Amino acid sequence: MIIVASTNGLIGMPAAVAVLRAGGTAVAAVEAGIRLVEANPDDHSVGYGGYPNIVGDLELDASIMDGRTLETGAVAAMKGYTHAISVARQVMETLPHVLLVGEGAERFAAEMGLVREDLLTDAARATWEQRLRQDMPADVFANLRGDIPLRDWVRLATDPERARGTVNFIAQDAHGDIACGVSTSGWAWSYPGRVGDSPIIGAGNYADNRYGAAACTGMGEMAIRAGTARSIVLYLKMGMSLTEACAEAMRDLRDLGGRFLSVMNLVALDKAGNPAGFSSIPDKTYIYQRADMEAPVEATRTHVPLPARWQG
Ligand code: GLY
Repeated sequence: MIIVASTNGLIGMPAAVAVLRAGGTAVAAVEAGIRLVEANPDDHSVGYGGYPNIVGDLELDASIMDGRTLETGAVAAMKGYTHAISVARQVMETLPHVLLVGEGAERFAAEMGLVREDLLTDAARATWEQRLRQDMPADVFANLRGDIPLRDWVRLATDPERARGTVNFIAQDAHGDIACGVSTSGWAWSYPGRVGDSPIIGAGNYADNRYGAAACTGMGEMAIRAGTARSIVLYLKMGMSLTEACAEAMRDLRDLGGRFLSVMNLVALDKAGNPAGFSSIPDKTYIYQRADMEAPVEATRTHVPLPARWQG
């Protein structure tokens, strides 16, 4: 039994491990861990307290995948409900669909009995305002919800190195079953309605009991274009080791063309219970904890440089 997570998952690790120790499923462990990250107001990349899009709306994306059946549920661009991962799980477990977006996801969250809240904290709102005022005249800032074109302002305001984040959790339970969950408030200051890799199965999340699981943080557009999480699991199926599979996925990302490229981080687990972490940023870490360990291990991800480009 093991939990693997991005380092910002530390706050949820005890809850996830407790689920496994109590005989719970990998799906339940992933949800339990991510819920605590979503509720953490100090994590500005996930759930409550996340940074908003360019017009000041906080939109959440999440997905969960059950490696036993390859069933999955996801929500995207959902406003007003902290626990996007729980809504995603209910999509998986109660609907014949896999992905709900926007108002449909919000209606479904309300049907689940969740209470609508304002998720934008004063701290996140202040950072949004300060950051955007640096880049745009006061009349543009005042009219962001009006009819001004946002295209150029999104490119200016978005910081490719610092304005993203996401949480990944992968669990393997006592039965050897694997699940993977991802939750994010997406790319800060992005165009309204922008959806990243986190709710896109195969891009930011994939789990298959037969081989393993993988999840991404970083520039979601890159993971969508390269099909990164699914590629890692497919490379495992083709017989590569976990290290080889992650390295191959990083090579796919390295070979992407185009004008906008930034960072990518991977966590992965093979069916034998071995964890791995890769990143295009030096010295970046991930965490894992086996059920018989007292505390999580913080391990350095294998560094694979990727080209960075930011051209208009
Ligand atoms: N990786 C999260 C996002 O790009 O939205």
